Amino acid sequence: MAEARQKELMSLRAGWPSEGVRPPRLVSVALGEGTPFSVYQRQQRRWAERLGIQFEAIALPEHTGGETLKARLRALDSDPSVHGILLQHPLPAPLDFFDLVSGLSPEKDVDGVGSVNLGRLVAGRPLQVPAVARAVFSVLKHYRYSIPGRRVVVLGRSETVGLPTALLFLLRGEGGDATVTVAHSRTRELSQTTREAELVVSCAGHPGLLGRQAVRPGAAVVDVGVSTRADPKAPGGMTVVGDADHADLQGYASALTPVPGGIGPVTSVELMANVLRGWALGEGLGTLP
Ligand SMILES: NC(=O)c1ccc[n+]([C@@H]2O[C@H](COP(=O)([O-])OP(=O)(O)OC[C@H]3O[C@@H](n4cnc5c(N)ncnc54)[C@H](OP(=O)(O)O)[C@@H]3O)[C@@H](O)[C@H]2O)c1
Repeated sequence: MAEARQKELMSLRAGWPSEGVRPPRLVSVALGEGTPFSVYQRQQRRWAERLGIQFEAIALPEHTGGETLKARLRALDSDPSVHGILLQHPLPAPLDFFDLVSGLSPEKDVDGVGSVNLGRLVAGRPLQVPAVARAVFSVLKHYRYSIPGRRVVVLGRSETVGLPTALLFLLRGEGGDATVTVAHSRTRELSQTTREAELVVSCAGHPGLLGRQAVRPGAAVVDVGVSTRADPKAPGGMTVVGDADHADLQGYASALTPVPGGIGPVTSVELMANVLRGWALGEGLGTLP
């Protein structure tokens, strides 16, 4: 699935001029070296290179202050050769991720969570949307899952994952027009709520949350959650799991995205799609679907 979307982006790129425009460039900023962020940055580099996107990883000292970080982001934002800026998060307090990314130009905010991008999504005019939310829709589109009129429950309401996903389902038009319920940790009778859905999109990060007791027979489940836990097959090792109890839902749900290997890789490609969108806008080439 990730490969199919990657191919689609490559053919879109091939249709755009390469002469007389700057090459697409992504800069990823992290605080501290040798942190999990370095691993993410290595993955980002791999995905960027596959799509011919120049990639630069910046590791600032762990205790960089808010003003210094803001100034660094401002400098990147005003550099016309930079088309996408990622700020690795969570950030240590008192640094405010939302405040910092809200200072970026909306097209360069490839995390898609700054105030302008969030506001545009709420207003039904999305520009940059968090890649993970886009990935949910890419997967549904790939499998020709028809969304309009569906009863959808999105589990999770974070500004970076659950909320933008729910807002995309609400957009008017072919890819949206769903009837959406957003559930969270304070939702009463959660299983009853999720059982009402034809499609459950779980963005809670809580393993085992969704089994047969919480899913109606034949419903589809998109598992966005990613958690690590001890691997029973490899003592001392860790394994990656989603929110759904995959063994329990096998043969019961009509569709279920795997973890790992489901939404995760598609999210990486959609992040690069955001960079290409920023590039196309920055270089005056138009917009990217
Ligand atoms: N596949 C990917 O590429 C990808 C990308 C990004 C994130 N993720 C994964 O997506 C998950 C969510 O990420 P996030 O950043 O949104 O996490 P987050 O900020 O911790 O938000 C989790 C959301 O789920 C809700 N929640 C947590 N436990 C719950 C429970 N037992 N019952 C009902 N609701 C519950 C929380 O409710 P409250 O608001 O009430 O606290 C919150 O709204 C994580 O597992 C993350 O690793 C995956």
